[in-house]
Parts: sequence; C-alpha cells; structure tokens
Amino acid sequence: MCGIVGYVGGKKAQDILVGGLRRLEYRGYDSAGIATLDDKNEAHITRSVGKIAELSKALESEPQTGHLGIGHTRWATHGGVTETNAHPHHAGNIYMVHNGIIENYKELKAELKDYKFASDTDTEVLAALIDSNYKDGISLKDAVAKSLKRIRGTYGIAVFSPKEPGTLVVARLGSPLIIGLGQGETLIASDASALLGYTREAIYLNDGELAVCTDKGAEVFTLSLKHLDSKPETIEGDLAQIQKGGYDHFLLKEIMEQATTLHNTLSGRIDPKAGKMHLGGPNLTEKEMRDIHHVVIVGCGTAYYAGLLASYYMEQLVPDLTTEVVIASEYRYRSFHLPKDSVALVVSQSGETADTLACLREIKKRGIKTLGIVNVVGSTIAREVDGGTYVHAGPEISVASTKAFTAQVVAMLMFAGMIAEYHGGDPKLIAEFTRELEILPAEIEKTLNDNRETMEKLAKKYSKFDHALYLGRDTAFPIALEGALKLKEISYIHAEGYASGELKHGPIALIDDRFFEVFTILDNWLFDKSCGGLHEVRARGGKTIVLTNSKADIEADDIVRIDSPIKLLMPILLNTLQQLFAYYVAVDRGNDVDQPRNLAKSVTVE
Ligand code: M6R
Repeated sequence: MCGIVGYVGGKKAQDILVGGLRRLEYRGYDSAGIATLDDKNEAHITRSVGKIAELSKALESEPQTGHLGIGHTRWATHGGVTETNAHPHHAGNIYMVHNGIIENYKELKAELKDYKFASDTDTEVLAALIDSNYKDGISLKDAVAKSLKRIRGTYGIAVFSPKEPGTLVVARLGSPLIIGLGQGETLIASDASALLGYTREAIYLNDGELAVCTDKGAEVFTLSLKHLDSKPETIEGDLAQIQKGGYDHFLLKEIMEQATTLHNTLSGRIDPKAGKMHLGGPNLTEKEMRDIHHVVIVGCGTAYYAGLLASYYMEQLVPDLTTEVVIASEYRYRSFHLPKDSVALVVSQSGETADTLACLREIKKRGIKTLGIVNVVGSTIAREVDGGTYVHAGPEISVASTKAFTAQVVAMLMFAGMIAEYHGGDPKLIAEFTRELEILPAEIEKTLNDNRETMEKLAKKYSKFDHALYLGRDTAFPIALEGALKLKEISYIHAEGYASGELKHGPIALIDDRFFEVFTILDNWLFDKSCGGLHEVRARGGKTIVLTNSKADIEADDIVRIDSPIKLLMPILLNTLQQLFAYYVAVDRGNDVDQPRNLAKSVTVE
C-alpha cells in the first residue's frame, strides 16, 4: 500500500521522484504528490487526486527545480481521497511522506494543540509531532527518533526540513524502505523496482531503524540513536522486467510470460532423471525433514489459494503429513496451537503483506520453524523467516496475482516432493510429479498460445453477466476459488468459488439468467462426480463453461479442452486459462486492468 520515493543528489529531484512514483503506482493510486527543496531552501509541494499522470499534469504548469525531495502515491487509510489528504504532508519545518498506520494519532493530535490540521490523516499528526520536537538545536534525526518512540502502529517515512538542506531522514517499522546508494546521489524507495536503472547497491532498512541520507550516502541508527554498521546489498532484477514489453497491460504480460518465470522457479531444483526434487533454501537436515509431521501454510488472497492447492499435493506425496492452510488475517488473532513437529510455510508474493507478516511473528513466538515462499527478494517476510525459498517469478506489477500463484504452488510442491523421500513417499509418484514439473513450462506456453483467442471470444460472450460461480472438486477446488477471485477483482463481476460437492448445500439456489458457472473438470477418478454438479446446474437452466482435459462427451454451453500429457498438475494449467478469461472480461468491460479500483498490490496495512 502506498509508494514512497525520495532523492538527494545532483539531478533534478522532480524527474526522479515522478519516474519512481510511476513505477510504484501499482502499490496505491488514489492520489499522489511530491515535495522538493529548491536552491533557496524553499519547499514546494504539489499534490493531486488520481493517478501519477494527474500529478505530472499539475507539475507541467508549476515545475519544481530542487535537488532534494520526497514523493508518495497513496492508497487511502485515514481520510478520503482528496488533494488535502494526499502526501507529502507539512507541519512547521517538517515535510513528510508516510506509508503505514499511526494507531494512536487521535491521542497525539489532542496533545498537539498548537497545530492546525488541514487533513484528516494520521500522517499530518506525525509531521506535527516531529515538528514539535524539532527545536532548541535538536537535529532532524533526533527529532524524528524522539517522535517515533511515541508511535503505536506502523510506518515507513521520509522527512526533510528547510532547516537542514541536503538531508533526508527515513525510518521504518513494518513498512518497507530501501536506500539506494548511487554516485553522488542517494535514492529512497518503498520497493526496489523504483531504484532499478539508478543503482544496484542498497541498504534494506530493518524495523526500528532510522537513516540519515545525503548525496554522499546513508548512516543508519536505532531509535535510541546507536550507530549501526549496515552492509549494502545488491538489488536483483532489470528494467525490462518492470516494463510492459509490447503487451497492452502488465497483467497480460505476466500471464503470458509464465513459461519463462516458471522455468526460473524450477531451475536447479528438479532432477527428472533421478525423479527427485530439491529446494536448497529451507536448509533442513535429513533429520529435520524426517521430523516434520505437520505443515501449516499461511497466506492471503491468491497466496492462500496457492497454499490450498499445494496442501492437496502434499497430502498425496507425503503419507504421514497433516496439513492446515490458514488465512493470515484470521490466524493471527486465533489462540492457535501447533504441534512441535510442525513447519510453517509463509506464502507471499510481495513479502510485505501485514497480516501474513503478523502470523509469521506469532508462529515464531511459538517456537515453530518458519519457511518463506516469497517472490520479492529482500522483502520483510523473506528476511524474518528462518529459511525458505524464493519463487523467482520476477516483478509482478499488475495488482492481480497470476504468475506468482503458479510459482508458489510449484515451490510448495517441490518442498513436499523433497520431504516425501524421508517419509516413505511413493518414489514413482514423486518421479511422476517431477516429470510433469519438467514439462509444465512448455505446456503452459502451448496452452496459453493455443487458447488465447478462444478465451477472448468467450470473455466477450460472458462479460455482461452480473454473477459467476466457479466450481471444482479435489485439486480443482482451489482453482475454482482462485478463478473467482481473479474475475471479481479485475472485472467487478460478483464471483464466488465453491467446491462443486457443496452446490446442493446452498449455492444452487442462486442460479438464474444473471449467473454463469465455470466448471473445472479433471480427467481423473472423480470425473463422473465432477460432472454431477454440472448436470445439476444445467438442469436448472444455468449457463455453463467447462474447462477440462477430458476427451469424454460433456454437455455445456462452452467447453475449452486441453490436450496435454500433464495430469497431476492439470489444475495449474487450467488456471492459466481462467487468468486469460478474467483478463479479457475486464478489458471488454473497459476496466483499469492493472490497477483495479480500491485495491493495491502490496497490502502493508491491516
Ligand atoms: O503479496 P501477497 O502474496 O502476500 O499478497 C496476498 C494478496 O493480497 C494477493 O494475493 C491479492 O489477493 C491479489 N490481489 C490477488 O490477485
């Protein structure tokens, strides 16, 4: 949620700030703004409601010339989407952008009687608090540290003051902040993608740390002002990964590039000849692998559904393993207990999701080993887990998660395949999964290319419906949930995913001519039972789409058949068609596909 950028150096700050905000726009896009300090030490703020394009327009008439500044793209938490509530905020000598939530802002506001507040935001209160402490010769760094000690909540902040030109102070607690170290310039960003092309050297600030940044670099401190020796790390990725590469939308690019990204997920981790899988990251000894008898998988949204699908595979592969898949926002507040022989898989594309992070911390408190299944390298979850694996899906810019889902399922499957060997798992089954994994990237590529036009036509046919039900059984059930989520979040069609066996326990009552139903039917031992639900819906006049790899006769309004040697992993393949379908429905409805309303990519607030 929200994107932060900052710059101090020899270049015109406005260009770098606006360019950085464009790259971070997917994190929040209600409103945006920048503030810079000019060569006469005068601060200028420009803010606008809407996307970065609106901010750019506003800056055309009043360009800012300074070489130091901060910028922000907002996803509203406190206060409506207005220019006054947009960041940067200003109080006295303090100019500030903030990501996160100050929980005790009302209490602090009541104390800050000397200040008149223009906005409804918690951020402006923090700016005023810092300003109130910024006096009697105290430095900006000390004022920020003193103020942050009073904060309950989360923050990633960047602050400057005309009293200390050439200095940016940044701090984080629960909201990412990265300091890019360039030649004669220092950049700040809440996401490493904004730094690509400027520098590869960066300091990832940890929770409870504060840094003073100048054009010469950065010095890091604790809030108690103890100097820390922070080692710069290398930023991964390249500019091409964060560009559309000829596609109309990032979403389509990310769907279509899944063969390549999955190849990266698998690279060096499967041995099809030996029929084995191995993940290095979890760093588990043979004994540790043998000792695992329970796996809890934690995630939100698509990451949760990826965990659900992976749990079916884990149960198939590891005979004596119990699994539990939990929604992070619920689990974090439950009085949960975990057996000592548990391992937690913490699944997150961004590695910053607040609820997932909170669960990770709760699980760690209980002495359970945590392993991350994370995409963004260097993210908070990746840094806090005991071990784990990067899924290597590359930057996912579109708000709807697609390639990350595929990579997450596969990474967890490889984890299961690896430990299965130590739990009496059937070597033939492990080898069969490994063989399918080897060919999965090519099969995804073929499936997407062969069916792109079909899915576009189908999408046009169904895009005017108001409601959709997605149904599946066994491993197709998590896919039904994921298909419905994808459709609803980008097309705004009301969509629900259900286990098809649940139809007659309620949802079948919904079926009428405003609904269509998407059935994922696998060519396996449950085929007849899966078709049962389809017949029930058709008998009541429901409009049905079937996605299947079966060659058998099936009656439906529309059938998309896949011919592939893939069997066990068929749900992953069929899910890529659902992704295309949702994409084309959203395009046909004229929606903002990459930045759907009310959403943001990285949910760093509760
Ligand atoms: O970054 P994460 O994987 O932790 O994000 C979890 C969810 O917020 C995310 O999957 C969300 O549901 C997407 N919009 C789904 O497409």
